[in-house]
Amino acid sequence: MRKYRIKGGIPLSGAVDISGAKNAVVAILPAALLADEPCRVENIPNIKDVAVSLKLLESLGAKVTHIDDNTVEIDPTTVGTCEVNDDLARNMRASYYFIGALLGKHGRARVPMPGGCWFGERPIDLHLKGFRALGAEVTPLENDCIEVCSNQLMGNSIYLDTVSVGATVNIMLAAVRAMGMTIIENAAKEPHIVDLANFLNTMGADIRGAGTDVIKIRGTQYLHSATYSIIPDQIEAGTYMAMAVATKGDVLVRNVIPKHLESITAKLIEMGAIVEEMDDAVRVRCSDTLQHCNIKTMPHPGFPTDMQPQIAVLLSTAQGVSHITEGIWENRYRYVDELRLMGADIEVRGNTATITGVPQLTAADVMAVDLRAGAAMVIAGLAAEGTTEIGNIRYIERGYENIVNKLTRLGAEISLIEVPDEA
Ligand code: EPZ
Repeated sequence: MRKYRIKGGIPLSGAVDISGAKNAVVAILPAALLADEPCRVENIPNIKDVAVSLKLLESLGAKVTHIDDNTVEIDPTTVGTCEVNDDLARNMRASYYFIGALLGKHGRARVPMPGGCWFGERPIDLHLKGFRALGAEVTPLENDCIEVCSNQLMGNSIYLDTVSVGATVNIMLAAVRAMGMTIIENAAKEPHIVDLANFLNTMGADIRGAGTDVIKIRGTQYLHSATYSIIPDQIEAGTYMAMAVATKGDVLVRNVIPKHLESITAKLIEMGAIVEEMDDAVRVRCSDTLQHCNIKTMPHPGFPTDMQPQIAVLLSTAQGVSHITEGIWENRYRYVDELRLMGADIEVRGNTATITGVPQLTAADVMAVDLRAGAAMVIAGLAAEGTTEIGNIRYIERGYENIVNKLTRLGAEISLIEVPDEA
């Protein structure tokens, strides 16, 4: 098994460059299928979820040309099927965005139900409600696939009972070429929603209100070529900010949009860190013992659920008792058992975790149980006394480009090792 081995206790220092946003690129790559001409996407991160997305595009017949490590050109005019490759799609939850894109452009999509991280029920009822509202027929198929078809999608008003990033994205993808106006109410407002809308509008789509809770999409019959650069990853940036704080370091986190980090910055300052904002960077320093605080994860612009495991690591050695309330997912505390192995004192009841600060975490052999839980284990390893080994790093590689190189350049002692799988 491949693992990260981390020698903890070294304050990080220097500068780190943030990559393109995972949750934007996994929506924008399928969105390229909606165009009538080739599109060029820049600043894509070199992560597993991008590799899967590009393979899915090729499996549909689209032509993918790698211009450089972080730039691809996608020619959707050669697409020959609307049936998504099962084995590939089951590797990544966001493969369900291909439903909205294929339905929007070709009037049909056959896709397996999503895979990806497991933290409780992850339904797609709101996605299907949106497709049906646009006039599509949804048919469950054998071996856990669905088929969504429509001869002509018609714009409609759709109210999302729960704020859902995925449903907002998928409905936008299906609606962008529908006849007439579609209004999504109670829409998600995450930065990656705005990024997708900007990409589609660069192609000639007519989407207004992205970033607010009402998005209006007037169907457009022709979408031309576009060149677009993905926004920086808000969660990768937040993760490196947390690493700087956890190691009592001094790190310049570059290529960020500070406004996207507001809720994270506010909480780190509340805990006692120093965060200086610049145009496209934040400098994060921390020398004192952190203070406890309470966190409630909410849809954007609230504190992001994808930073919940990472902030829990910081609170594990903060002075006093902190409370985290997970407001999005029903069970996003599977990392707690791993953190307890390193000496954390955390009690979980329902969607609330109570964290009593301990002076220091201690190194242990732990596992990444999902993408952001894995990132949290890296933070814990960087902070802990001793050498930590982290298994199941494939989760971490789904969302963090070059994490070993980036951390090494910040002074961390981290290496990728291969150990025989336990019998
Ligand atoms: C996206 O997941 C992100 N993934 C997640 O990030 C993130 O945690 C989540 O949004 C919340 O911000 C991607 O963007 C690829 P949702 P998504 O639909 O779209 C309920 C990471 O670490 N819901 O906003 O699946 C759902 O159960 C990943 O990068 C329905 O009830 O999340 C949840 O309680 C992990 N019905 C809430 O809405 C639906 O049809 C929010 O889910 C859809 C969702």
